[in-house]
Order: sequence, then C-alpha cells, then structure tokens
Amino acid sequence: MSILITGGAGYIGSHTCIELLESGFDIVVVDNLCNSSREAMKRVEALTGKSIPFYEADIRNPEAMTEVFKAHQIEAVIHFAGLKAVGESTRIPRTYYDNNVTGTLKLVEVMEQFNVHHLVFSSSATVYGDPAIVPITEDMPTGATTNPYGRSKYIVEEMLKDISASDNKWNFTLLRYFNPVGSHESGQIGEDPKGIPNNLMPFIAQVAVGKREQLSVFGDDYDTKDGTGVRDYIHVVDLAQGHVAAVKTHQQDAGLHIYNLGSGTGSSVLEMLQAFEKSCGKSLPYSIQPRRPGDIAECYADPSFAEKALSWKASRTVETMTDDTWRWQSGNPNGYES
Ligand code: NAD
Ligand code: UFG
Repeated sequence: MSILITGGAGYIGSHTCIELLESGFDIVVVDNLCNSSREAMKRVEALTGKSIPFYEADIRNPEAMTEVFKAHQIEAVIHFAGLKAVGESTRIPRTYYDNNVTGTLKLVEVMEQFNVHHLVFSSSATVYGDPAIVPITEDMPTGATTNPYGRSKYIVEEMLKDISASDNKWNFTLLRYFNPVGSHESGQIGEDPKGIPNNLMPFIAQVAVGKREQLSVFGDDYDTKDGTGVRDYIHVVDLAQGHVAAVKTHQQDAGLHIYNLGSGTGSSVLEMLQAFEKSCGKSLPYSIQPRRPGDIAECYADPSFAEKALSWKASRTVETMTDDTWRWQSGNPNGYES
C-alpha cells in the first residue's frame, strides 16, 4: 500500500516525501511540475536511498490520475498540489479556482472511484482572515479571506466538510499551515521560488546571496512588538513531520479532523532579518516601505490541539530555520538549476 502525494515535487511536498519514506511508508508522487523541478525528486531519492514512482501529470486530468490509481494500491492521499501566490491569484483568479478547487474535486472523484477515502489537505492559516485574537485556535471563525487564493482554500475546506457530512466513509484531515520556512538540514532540498519571491524568507535568502539588492520591509507602523508584521514561522521539516503524525493518527479514522500546524510563537519581520544575518554572517540591507495591501498585523497559532491529538510539536527554533535556509540558498544560489 502506498500514499499518493500530489504536488510532491514542491517545497513542502518534497520535505514530506523524505519524512514519510524515513517513517517506512511507500509513496507515489504526482506533480505537473508547474512550480517545481524533477531535480527535487532526484535529490529526495538520493537522500533517502529509495526510488519513488513519479508521474508528471495534472490532478485535473482524470485519465492520467486513473492510470496512477490503477498502477498502485493507494491507501491515502496527501494533497499539496495547487497554486499559492496571493498576488497572482488576484490577477488570474479563474486559474486559481480551477487548480485548487476543481483540481481537488476531480481528485476526490477519482479517489471515490477507487474506493480510497483518506485525504490530507494542505490548507492555510489564511482561512482565518484577520483574526480577532491571537493565538488562533481551530474553532475560530473562518471565511473572511482577502484574496482568491485564500478563498480557494476556504472553499475546498467547506467542500470537504460537506462531502464528509454526506458520507461517513470519508476521512479528511485539514491541516492549516502557518508560515513554512527553512530547508532540510542536508542543504540539498529547499524552497525554489520562480521569479521574484513573494514570501519573506526566500526574499531575505536571495538578498543574502546577492541576487536581490535589499529587503523591502512592508510597514513598520503595525501595533506589534517592533511595528513590523508578526507571523508564526514553522520549520518545513517540523511541518512535514506533522503530516506523518496526521496520517498515522487518523489512518483508520473516518470523519473530519482539523489542525493548526504552527510553532505557537510570533516573530516579526525585523527579528527574522536579524536571525538570518547571524546565520549568514553579514548585515543585510533593507528599507521600510508602505504596508503591503491585504497584510495583517499579527498571526500565530495555538498549536496545542495538534500537540495533544497528534503527539506532534514543532520543535525547531528560528535559528535552525535561518541556518538551514542559508545552507540551502548558499549551496544552491539558483535553486535546482544551480
Ligand atoms: P509548491 O508550489 O512548492 O508545491 C506545489 C506543487 O504542486 C508544485 O510542485 C506544483 O508543480 C504542483 N502542482 C500545482 N498545480 C498542480 C496540478 N494541477 N497538478 C499537479 N501538480 C500541481 O508549494 P508549497 O509551498 O509546497 O505548498 C504546498 C501546498 O501547501 C499548496 O497547496 C499551498 O497552497 C499550501 N500552503 C503553502 C503555504 C506556504 O507558505 N508555502 C502556506 C499554507 C498552505
Ligand atoms: N514581508 C516583507 N517583505 C517581503 C515579504 C514579506 O516585509 O518582501 C512581510 C509581510 O508584510 C509579512 C511577513 O513578512 O508581515 C510575512 O510575509 P509572507 O509573504 O512571507 O507571508 P504571509 O504571512 O503574508 O503569507 C503566508 C503565505 C500565504 C498563507 C499565509 C498564512 O504566503 O500563502 O502565510 O498561512 F496563506
């Protein structure tokens, strides 16, 4: 029996492949490589010493997906495949809804056809919108999203809740990630954004390696510890291990399970910059710019429910996150094309 990983060549998917293989699971990967590289899979194979059945296919293509389900005995699906750039989603919303919402529905249809009912879905803290209070618990209101990407995650959550309510065979785990950063400690795999990074950590890493001139800090007038935005950064390996814990915990457990996967600690933009400066051993240029539209002041998780139910906890520090990112970025300045 294998676990099917959609989007397994991507940033979080590739790290999760390693943790699953190291925990003894067999895996199969489907990815259309629209935001990733085959090289990531090769490196996962080299790091684990295992070969991974890989299909370059789109989750929206039922024929291709049927072939995958026919060729392997799939027991569960971890569903990472999707588009994730907030700004881009406002420019091409139909593409986002098609990939993220229609893609998930088509995946669920093929699963039903093959009598596979266990799905772990990559959701996001973005479903909470601008939270009234922090830390955020799973029972806080969702849906006040501010962009098509966020709404696509919220819509998929609601769709899966409806399917679960209609048929008690389904076993859905919705994992709401906070801000995944860092890389595998080997420095062999990591985040490899195409074009100008939208997210803070890859941007800082590219400044450190000389690919970008300076960091723009989007706003220093928030009501936070130093005026810059506060987020819950979680090491991607901790996040990957959270998936292993979720799959194991709910292996035989139909129903709907929802977890925040975060560290529970809020760090500011300037704190992340300072931590990165320590990791790379140089000071990094930055300038204060106006707030980025749609940004919120503060967002961090109450991870205690996941800790209790999954016997899992994010344990890696911000220093480990920036050290590991620097190892990856300095060793692979052009990502997988280096
Ligand atoms: P990523 O872009 O690195 O990985 C997504 C992978 O899915 C890529 O390899 C891409 O090629 C593939 N893909 C996209 N559409 C596909 C399709 N239609 N068919 C087949 N493959 C497809 O992104 P990531 O950071 O690893 O994120 C993984 C998941 O986690 C996404 O669903 C994302 O929305 C969610 N998420 C990410 C973050 C974050 O900050 N990285 C935060 C919250 C949630
Ligand atoms: N920031 C900068 N400069 C940059 C990039 C970011 O100052 O160049 C700041 C932002 O203003 C924010 C913080 O750094 O205060 C984090 O920004 P990111 O873009 O890295 O992350 P977000 O919290 O905005 O969004 C991320 C993912 C979303 C996801 C959300 C909640 O990109 O997909 O976390 O999980 F929905």
